[in-house]
Amino acid sequence: MKITLVGAGAIGSLWAGALARQGHAIHLWRRQTDTAFTLQWQGLDAPDTDTFTFCCNQPERLTSSDVILITVKAFQVLEAIQSIAPWLRTATPVIVMHNGMGTENEVLQLLPDNPVLYATTSQAALRVDHQSVRHTGVGPTWLGAVNRAGEQWQSLAGVLNTALAPCQWHEDIHAPQWQKLAINCAINPLTAIHQCRNGYLAAPDFTAELTDICREVAAVMTAAGHTTSSEELVQRTLTVIQATAANYSSMQQDVANQRPTEIDAITGFLIEQAHHFQLATPANFALWQQIKHLEQNYG
Ligand SMILES: NC(=O)c1ccc[n+]([C@@H]2O[C@H](COP(=O)([O-])OP(=O)(O)OC[C@H]3O[C@@H](n4cnc5c(N)ncnc54)[C@H](OP(=O)(O)O)[C@@H]3O)[C@@H](O)[C@H]2O)c1
Repeated sequence: MKITLVGAGAIGSLWAGALARQGHAIHLWRRQTDTAFTLQWQGLDAPDTDTFTFCCNQPERLTSSDVILITVKAFQVLEAIQSIAPWLRTATPVIVMHNGMGTENEVLQLLPDNPVLYATTSQAALRVDHQSVRHTGVGPTWLGAVNRAGEQWQSLAGVLNTALAPCQWHEDIHAPQWQKLAINCAINPLTAIHQCRNGYLAAPDFTAELTDICREVAAVMTAAGHTTSSEELVQRTLTVIQATAANYSSMQQDVANQRPTEIDAITGFLIEQAHHFQLATPANFALWQQIKHLEQNYG
């Protein structure tokens, strides 16, 4: 397939290399104006790297693409879509893949006629430098439609699955998005505030705070139609903390490097939904405030 990836950061480069290895023709849409980009791609536990040179920023390649995969951060999605819109055919399916939630309505307004799909992934990638990416963890990717036209594109889950398994189609993509958001609400702000690895949160000192966070998230998820319990979310969070104990979360890294975080698309989205359902989320609100304070005081 002819695939354009918009945003060649860590996760975009990971998918670009993995899809290129399957023989797909990859074109990158980047903020830099270069017309080519050479990527060193290292698979999980692989000793050697593959080298790919991708064509970039060619409007005609965008127009002729069979699918567009958008892999920017949540707060970059709208600008990224605006930048491709003039060359996008309305028949071309667009997949938006980011952590957090809350961009969907505006994306659908920007792309009223395109098939629009969302993906949420637990694959992990590290951008070693601007031209090198390493696959650092395997996890499920879920793909699903958010409009009627998108429902015709279940086959794209197979394309992604062949490149980086496992990827499955989900009839209600909001369900895995909420599950990922719940874990992110617990782990990301705490690791960013304490500047620690995920595993640090397994200490008994954090039990009460994690329980409070999960209780609030469970209430909002249940009100939104994704019934769960505080106990289930605490258990899932502890499982992820243990499985990723040595890792730094993306929000920890963003704060450490004084970059904008995705707090508004994660905890901010939860708070917004809680407000809609008239639920109180004081523990999550306190975390949101602390991350905003950190961001506002970057040097
Ligand atoms: N990294 C992971 O392991 C991982 C795992 C699961 C989910 N995710 C999620 O995946 C999303 C992307 O994360 P990431 O870690 O890949 O972030 P990232 O490394 O910052 O990559 C984002 C890329 O998008 C580019 N970009 C931003 N605006 C653009 C625009 N208008 N046009 C073209 N390119 C644009 C950025 O360009 P510049 O280089 O110019 O800044 C950057 O290269 C996030 O929601 C993240 O939470 C990441």
